[in-house]
Amino acid sequence: MGLKQKDLLGLKDLSREEISLILDTAVSFKEVLGRDIKKVPVLRGKTVVNLFYEPSTRTRTSFELASKMLSADVINIATQTSAVQKGECLKDTVLTLTSLGADYIVIRTSMCGAPHFISTFFQGHVLNAGDGINEHPTQALLDMYTIKEKLGKIEGLKVLILGDILHSRVARSNMFGLVKMGAEVGVCGPPTLIPKDVAKLGVKVHLDLDEALPNYDIVNVLRVQLERQRQGMFASAHEYYEHYGLTTQRLEKNKHLLVMHPGPMNRGVEISPDVAESENAVIETQVTNGVAVRMAVLYLLLGGESHE
Ligand code: CP
Repeated sequence: MGLKQKDLLGLKDLSREEISLILDTAVSFKEVLGRDIKKVPVLRGKTVVNLFYEPSTRTRTSFELASKMLSADVINIATQTSAVQKGECLKDTVLTLTSLGADYIVIRTSMCGAPHFISTFFQGHVLNAGDGINEHPTQALLDMYTIKEKLGKIEGLKVLILGDILHSRVARSNMFGLVKMGAEVGVCGPPTLIPKDVAKLGVKVHLDLDEALPNYDIVNVLRVQLERQRQGMFASAHEYYEHYGLTTQRLEKNKHLLVMHPGPMNRGVEISPDVAESENAVIETQVTNGVAVRMAVLYLLLGGESHE
């Protein structure tokens, strides 16, 4: 059992069946997380390299934990302290890692398409851990896993993705994945942060949060990406919060809403601290599920090679 492709570059190119396979496989790995000894020999003898050109807490740590729980050897490369600082290009870095015996490269970068580029010459497995504003496939997979775990299904549920859709790789991967899995997907945010042709992906567009929110089962609140903003995308953090912040008053109007956030959160900008810590929120469960989902992906990319 496994995936046909050698890499996970995005959800745009995965079928509904492949997404279901990953989510179903992650259920068994979540069980491993509950054991006293959280270790299975699936990737024994394999080397996973985490190559992160951008900061990360959740994704990098959970890929490291997932790899270790599968018995792989793990190397973390923070580019701030690597030869990248001496001018080494991405291709030479990857060729160096190949010579050192990397079997997997997990890459995060601000360059859209960098994982796709290295997959053309790296013989091992490439996992996209976020490439610019393009995709963050394992985040969307763990979001879908969490929806299924909490609500029993994905098909037919209404999911609102709220906030900075324009700069969000999490939004793009979620839209590709959720639409394929049969969810009804909406996006909501300031007009300047909604991509022009987003409706072509099969999602509804809302500009008024108060009007949209009561019609949804789930809201996935995105971080306002202050580092990727150009001037004038919205007036101020205060104004953003007033119109698009997920507040207790807004939650009162839809008491059964499942509240998700990929993290890291800007409390008081896109979400209030009360909502983030409310019973509706599953933000910490998302983080835990990220380990199980990443174990499933690492395992399934081995295809026929893996131990059953
Ligand atoms: N959700 C997410 O990608 O978080 P990190 O930036 O901490 O990895």
